[in-house]
Amino acid sequence: MNTLTQIIDGKLISLQIQDEIFLQVEELKKNNKKIPHLAAILVGSDGASETYVAAKVRACERVGFNSTLIRLPELVSEQELLKKIKDLNTDSDVDGYIVQLPLPKHINEYKILEAISPQKDVDGFHPQNVGRMALNLPTYLPATPFGIIQLLERYKIDTIGKHCVVIGRSHIVGSPMSILMARNTAFGNCTVSLCHSRTVNLKEFTLNADILIVALGIPEFITADMVKDGVVIIDVGITRIISGKTKSGFKLVGDVNYDEVAPKASFITPVPGGVGPMTIASLLINTLKASRGDVYQQLD
Ligand code: GUN
Repeated sequence: MNTLTQIIDGKLISLQIQDEIFLQVEELKKNNKKIPHLAAILVGSDGASETYVAAKVRACERVGFNSTLIRLPELVSEQELLKKIKDLNTDSDVDGYIVQLPLPKHINEYKILEAISPQKDVDGFHPQNVGRMALNLPTYLPATPFGIIQLLERYKIDTIGKHCVVIGRSHIVGSPMSILMARNTAFGNCTVSLCHSRTVNLKEFTLNADILIVALGIPEFITADMVKDGVVIIDVGITRIISGKTKSGFKLVGDVNYDEVAPKASFITPVPGGVGPMTIASLLINTLKASRGDVYQQLD
């Protein structure tokens, strides 16, 4: 590995942020103030969603938040789910909540996300909060993009005027990421290219990237010949593949061929232990903000 390559330790930063939040919760307890409360709705029993939601609940316990996990069967009707959402919108003890995605095919995801009270939308997926993000107004930033911004910030990575190439245009990662990196803010101000499955000659873009953010879901897609020396690599991908080298018979890999690309990079996020743990930290920060009423107080 290039001695100048810095590995971005998302696990460590996430734990640091959780420690900071723990101390703030201790302070709230000492002063008999309300303890932040996050609720999560999980529909069905998709393996990955189960894992993610369990990690979110565990993180709440670690920092001292209250948490509620609401499980609904795979075949729950849209109407029943909307009723649950209405209940959470009016439950004054719940500060913020999430509906874990993806939802079963018979449920209209946008209808559900629009029903969430924007004040309690700690995932930042409600159209109102997406609009506020685009306008650089106070809002809840979606967990993965917010986590990446915090990594750039904590590692003091210079973004101003840089060419940031984002691969993937999902509503959860790629699209908001492209908006955040272009904003006129301290860890933004990039010239952004948003690439996706229809991009022609992707390599021309990746070779020109100062910062490359990959959220594609194709294991080890980015190879050494696709990046320039000194690039900052943010790898959002996480896929479980079969491996003869691990006890479990599986290993987790990102969208970037780490062994090949790391020697050329100035900074790189590993998988696992890079972006993944930061999503939890972001959700906790958003929940703390929701319980304080910070976000909406500033404008309304
Ligand atoms: N599914 C994948 N990522 C996320 C996320 O950040 N929030 C929710 N609610 N569902 C997801």
